[in-house]
Amino acid sequence: MGVPYAALVHEDRVHGSLYTDPAVFAEEMDRVFRRGWVFVGHESEIPAAGDWVARRIGLEPVLMTRDGSGAVHALANRCAHRGNRLCVRERGNAKAFQCAYHGWTFGLDGALRSVPFVSGFDGDRAALGLDRPGAVDSHRGFVFANISGDAGPLAAHLGSAGRALLDRLCDLSPTGALRFDAGWIGHRIDSNWKMWPESDNDGYHLDFVHASMLRAADSYYKETVVGGEKANASLAVDHGGGHVELDMRPSYKGELSWLGSARAKVSAYCDALTARLGAARAAAALHDGPPHAFIFPNLFLGELNIARIEPLGVGATVHHHTVVQFDGVDAAFNRRLLRQSEAALGPASFIVPDDAVVAERMQMSFAGATADSGNGGALGWIDLTRGRARETRGAGGSRVGHISDETTNRGFWRHYRQVMEARA
Ligand code: FES
Ligand SMILES: [Fe+2]
Repeated sequence: MGVPYAALVHEDRVHGSLYTDPAVFAEEMDRVFRRGWVFVGHESEIPAAGDWVARRIGLEPVLMTRDGSGAVHALANRCAHRGNRLCVRERGNAKAFQCAYHGWTFGLDGALRSVPFVSGFDGDRAALGLDRPGAVDSHRGFVFANISGDAGPLAAHLGSAGRALLDRLCDLSPTGALRFDAGWIGHRIDSNWKMWPESDNDGYHLDFVHASMLRAADSYYKETVVGGEKANASLAVDHGGGHVELDMRPSYKGELSWLGSARAKVSAYCDALTARLGAARAAAALHDGPPHAFIFPNLFLGELNIARIEPLGVGATVHHHTVVQFDGVDAAFNRRLLRQSEAALGPASFIVPDDAVVAERMQMSFAGATADSGNGGALGWIDLTRGRARETRGAGGSRVGHISDETTNRGFWRHYRQVMEARA
């Protein structure tokens, strides 16, 4: 019998064994990461023909490549002969991929190009290309893949809300294009992957986990997220489909709060944005800023940082992040974004290291949780009741709560249960 998700995931509580049970993890790798859409990378990471980056979709190692015609591919990073890992570095540029074991060579599109000592080769060349996901698609440069190929269109997975979140970020660039070319930092954390969608989109913990950051640094979080329930008007939103958001727009006092700046200081940027969007849309964009949101199951839009969540095992995860760089701005502007990102999320920063400590403590707390006898076990529940009674319905059927409410967490788990049951 499979894992009884209906007994473990309720509207207002979920069971701790979901973080620690290897059987749950194995089913997630299939139902969430193999049979659903997963974020792989951004087209700007591989701008030139031959560029490639190494990623994982669940536990499946993949390469995102650009071939000579400009097409983007996702390919298994595993030789089709006997399975050797093709690329061991994180990124590079290649004319082709040659396996280090017996020298088979594959094109940037995954096709088998050549086999050494060919007279002894009896295989079907066409069938021995690199494995590839059944479907690959992108939205505004964000590349997603669905290994099984039967998850339906990407647009349906993202939904209008998911697409609007990505658009809101992209439309802050004066050309509408983003660049993820400043490199990624990965924090390896001994916690289950699901703690990251939860904590990256939890508006309740800033006052506590991140108190030291708030004391040390001036941040717009002071007016948008912290200070108790009455002090801010920000919202926690469940858009459905597992896509959730902490919406800080109602708390911003004016334009560019999210950048800690003002028009006069970044006038070239504002003028360029106005030239593209027109005065009214540019003013709205400069007020609203980038979203703080999560695209199920592994993409975090953390305002001007992007994170992708890579599960390594039931109790180990890598939280990779990079900074958003805008196309069409001067180098000093992007450098400023990079410095802000380093201070917020880098290894010597506050946010991810502090969150990591809590995630690892939670993981230890649930080490003994078991989903025994189908009732979810008597011990080891997580309470997610906060703000249920005051949740309201917003545009498109979204659920909206105060930013400190667990609306986002409930939204994640509601979709999670649906996926785990529907793909059983
Ligand atoms: S395993 Fe790659 S060529 Fe043999
Ligand atoms: Fe946090």
